[in-house]
Amino acid sequence: MKTHCRFSAFVARVSCVLFLMALLFFGASSAAQAPAPQNQVHYDAQTHTFRIDGGSVSYVFGVNNSGELQSIYWGKRLPESDSFPTPHSLPALASFTPPVNTTPQEFTGWGGGLYTVPDLKVTFSDGNRDLVLHYVSHQVQGSSLTVVLKDISRAVYVTLSYKMDEATGILRRTALVENKTDQPFTIEQAASGTWNLPAAGDYQLNYLTGRWGDEWNLQRESLHPGKVILESRRGSTSHESNPWFGIERGGSKDQDHGDVWFGALGWSGSWQIAVEQNSIMQVRVTGGFNPFDFAYVLHPGESLQLPDFYGGYSSNGMGGASRLLHRFELSSILPESPDPRPRPVLYNSWEATEFNVNEAGQEKLAEEAASIGVERFVMDDGWFGERNTDHAGLGDWYPNPQKFPHGLKPLIDKVHSLGMDFGLWVEPEMVNPDSQLYRQHPDWVLNFPGRPRTEERNQVVLNLARPDVKAWVFQTLDKLLTDNEISFLKWDYNRNWTEPGWPAVSPDQEKEVYVKYVQNLYSILQELRAKHPKVEIESCSGGGGRVDLGILRYTDEVWPSDNTDPFDRLSIQNGFTYAYTPEVMMAWVTDSPSWMNHRSTSLTYRFLSSMQGSLGIGANLNKWTPQDFETAKKLVAQYKQVRGTVQHGALYRLISPLHGSEYSVNEYVASPGDQAVVFAFLHSSQMGNPYPRIYLRGLDPAARYHFSMMDGQAASDTPESASGEWWMNVGVQLNMRGDLQASAFALQRVP
Ligand code: GLA
Repeated sequence: MKTHCRFSAFVARVSCVLFLMALLFFGASSAAQAPAPQNQVHYDAQTHTFRIDGGSVSYVFGVNNSGELQSIYWGKRLPESDSFPTPHSLPALASFTPPVNTTPQEFTGWGGGLYTVPDLKVTFSDGNRDLVLHYVSHQVQGSSLTVVLKDISRAVYVTLSYKMDEATGILRRTALVENKTDQPFTIEQAASGTWNLPAAGDYQLNYLTGRWGDEWNLQRESLHPGKVILESRRGSTSHESNPWFGIERGGSKDQDHGDVWFGALGWSGSWQIAVEQNSIMQVRVTGGFNPFDFAYVLHPGESLQLPDFYGGYSSNGMGGASRLLHRFELSSILPESPDPRPRPVLYNSWEATEFNVNEAGQEKLAEEAASIGVERFVMDDGWFGERNTDHAGLGDWYPNPQKFPHGLKPLIDKVHSLGMDFGLWVEPEMVNPDSQLYRQHPDWVLNFPGRPRTEERNQVVLNLARPDVKAWVFQTLDKLLTDNEISFLKWDYNRNWTEPGWPAVSPDQEKEVYVKYVQNLYSILQELRAKHPKVEIESCSGGGGRVDLGILRYTDEVWPSDNTDPFDRLSIQNGFTYAYTPEVMMAWVTDSPSWMNHRSTSLTYRFLSSMQGSLGIGANLNKWTPQDFETAKKLVAQYKQVRGTVQHGALYRLISPLHGSEYSVNEYVASPGDQAVVFAFLHSSQMGNPYPRIYLRGLDPAARYHFSMMDGQAASDTPESASGEWWMNVGVQLNMRGDLQASAFALQRVP
């Protein structure tokens, strides 16, 4: 179909554009419920369009009359009988807005008259900076599609890859930039691709912000014409902002209803996601390397691989979007995917001992931990080099001879004899200037010669982009894992970059450090895992400073925050789970009052808060009473009964802890609905109000479920068993009053 717009008045131009957009971007609400056919990629040669279906999602784009790769539809899965018109570039809004700005595109080069955020911007060695990418060819292979674009005159190639996940409809996109010219060029901006949403004026953008000790704050704001930049310029993912977004259409008050488009970037270095809305309500989301202080020289024959950028759609609100992401992370991202084992209950020594670790002290803690059912004992910081405070030792990865005169073996043997496996804390990318390593290799750190080397926590960052540093980190960890029976590394990273210079390479290559550092980090993790397949790894960065879908391909769990206050954790964990599965969310039970807020809570409250993720214990067990051990033993045993559901089930946030809420209620439902577990918290009772009645979700309506209280008290008229329909519609009344109270109950399908 060919449509001409020949009106001269601006208003007429706008309506013409909107008419074309309406043709090309069907609203999700107009789509009929789809059957459940196979995940597939369809190419329609007549209209030159690609259609990718998976889960409950259809994604459509095509080659338009200008040779651009035009986005057509992303949203609810459409019936196969529906077809799309031939894509056609949209007319200019006025002489001020060339069509390239209003024609939604999958991947744009900065050239012609592009004013939106480009996916790729380059400077050629002759000073030319014009890059216009047009379709060249494509290839379909199963559920994967690759499309090759090329500049209109120079041999700059970009290969876009699309892979749809059949179960969740989450699409993985990436791009490979190749220089097939005979001169180098400099990449100044590079993104993995652009997601175009259906045009609408009532979007709400959700994103995650924070700081050390206060990560995972869910922000929500209306989108307006303009641009929102989510980013890290810090060399790593950051506590301040996480590479995830969720965009809701309309203003649904119920988090399990409404249309949501969401995405996450798999990159653990400086990143950027730009969310732009223009004056005709088009919304585009572009994500990739952060262009700030960025340059990457691509020599003839070289290529640059962009990070994976994942995107999905849910018609079940922000709750549905996070459930899809959780499922996708378990099935397609984590090292043990598609079927990761439930995480073991671990003990970590940090809050109990800090740097004061030694063989006898750790063995005592190990005995105590084993007595309550802990499965993995982890020794944290302080075991190596001259590490008695955070002023020294990082870089010297041998056991401190005073603390461990016979090496780590006696402790590891003891831990094994208690039936647990052994884990160890490392921070391999860092060095204290007061260390043997730094004295030998002062040139190994990020620095600008003659400038200060700013220390944070008395440490500086090893430049992992350097091949010698990369080799040293691998060899050091490989030796540690070969010499000792270690099952788990807590891999820490306790500062961000300053003075990010790389003086060993030529000045035009220095900024490549942002890419090469992270590539080498991934490669070390990958090689270590290949050589030591039984070793699991936790990504920690002073809490949640390095959590993203890039690092999660190589790590089994993450440390969401150094803030272990169990009340604060309710909102921290709430924000965390919008983007990441509870399986990877390590949560320790620590001492009361909490060091962070000096808040006192019962041991049961602390356990129930932590049991909503991957349970760990980080308390000083030497101070526990026999009663504490009894309570802990009972709750650890209960956790083991429900952890499969918590870690792999569907999470329903029934009552949010945010915005000063007095309450927090989360429900986890095992697939296919055999078990549900509910954790409920009360901050402080007011006015004698009863606890809000809890209406469950996601159960099999026709099945019968047996009710059992794990801790706390339900109203005396709660039935012993009832239908799923009953629990979802009549609900459960808990008798919970007072301050900082917690309860939990389970529903088990009656066979
Ligand atoms: C970081 C981690 C903590 C602990 C300390 C040790 O802050 O987040 O859990 O491991 O380092 O120094």
